[in-house]
Amino acid sequence: MVKKVKTNQLRPGMFIHDINCGWLDHPFFGRAMDVNDDEMVEKIVNFGIREVYIDTDIGLDVDSAPTKEEADKAIMEEINKINEINFDDIKPVAVGREIIMAKKVRKEAMKTVQNVMNNIKMGTQIHKEEVEVVVNDIIISMLRNPNALMSMGMLRKTDEYLYQHSISVCALMVSFGKLLGFDSQLLKEIGLGAMLHDIGTMQVPQEIICKQNGLTESEYEQVKKHVLYGRNILEKTEGVTDMSIITAYQHHERLDGTGYPKGIKGDEISKTGRAIAIIDVYDALTTKRCFRNLIPPAEAIKMIFEWSETKFDRGMVKKFIKCIGIYPVGSLVRLESGLLAVVFDHSTDDILRPLVRVVYDTKKERIVMPYVLDLSKPSGKGGADRIVSYEPPEQWSIQPDAYL
Ligand SMILES: [Fe+2]
Repeated sequence: MVKKVKTNQLRPGMFIHDINCGWLDHPFFGRAMDVNDDEMVEKIVNFGIREVYIDTDIGLDVDSAPTKEEADKAIMEEINKINEINFDDIKPVAVGREIIMAKKVRKEAMKTVQNVMNNIKMGTQIHKEEVEVVVNDIIISMLRNPNALMSMGMLRKTDEYLYQHSISVCALMVSFGKLLGFDSQLLKEIGLGAMLHDIGTMQVPQEIICKQNGLTESEYEQVKKHVLYGRNILEKTEGVTDMSIITAYQHHERLDGTGYPKGIKGDEISKTGRAIAIIDVYDALTTKRCFRNLIPPAEAIKMIFEWSETKFDRGMVKKFIKCIGIYPVGSLVRLESGLLAVVFDHSTDDILRPLVRVVYDTKKERIVMPYVLDLSKPSGKGGADRIVSYEPPEQWSIQPDAYL
């Protein structure tokens, strides 16, 4: 019987029926083989192969693995779901409820993006359906409550930058697209383009991508090529629409023509190209990289607003700020009173005065029993408390998502 197993379930004595990655794109002899020893298992895992098919009539069996038929059925069910979903029917839920689902979506998305990027590194084709399933889950989560998934983007590991950046840009793009009035089909297409916008960086030498001390002119020219590489990859991928390709291809174009690869200006850049440019920069600025620290969201928003005189579409930047708020959900902020609080809702119209959950008192230097404070309403005699700064959560050992 043929079964699908995770590569970490592989043991010597099993027989691989199908290595489950592209023809000639792996260093193993043929697609079917005996698993001889642990070294071979390690080699397969290290090569980035996550799942293989084994034949239990020839080699050892694994109890908890689906048969090939069951695995194929599960894949088809997921793919079929894509067309059945009507995003208009999705009902909003509270952030606290959505956070559990959003965690799962993010975890799944991480696996998929890693897989896709590794495939590109090895010169293997992308399967659009694989990405589409994840983009769909992101759309659903963002429509139920955008704050859940977005708040998770704040807790990142530096070494996973590219994967997390891809997911966050996708999530923000979907949320922004909804605000701009895009329909379900368009959301799927721009979501896919956003998820894969930086895929071309896999074909740029990695030592340049993460270089600590600035780039030479020729290195920068190489980095710039990632948009071109990305377009080529997407064009070769079956079923990817022009809308997805253009969304990815234009993410470094700037309104004044100083961007790349084409240096086009103003309305020559598509609406989605102008939108993703803002999102890409916002997410890059607010994330810690190997070569620099993060910039607090409120500061990044100010910078982008300032740059929108020349680089970005100002009308669109205003809408984007409306979309995410000055203090995005999940931010840890210091209030004038000395309290530290986690922003957990900015559904009111006042983007400067969100709902927060107070978690720490810096004056008394102690944790407080969490309670909700609506900064748009007066509290006590002196009027409403107000946000004075953004605080890095790791500095206080506070995990903001625990308070959403
Ligand atoms: Fe890029």
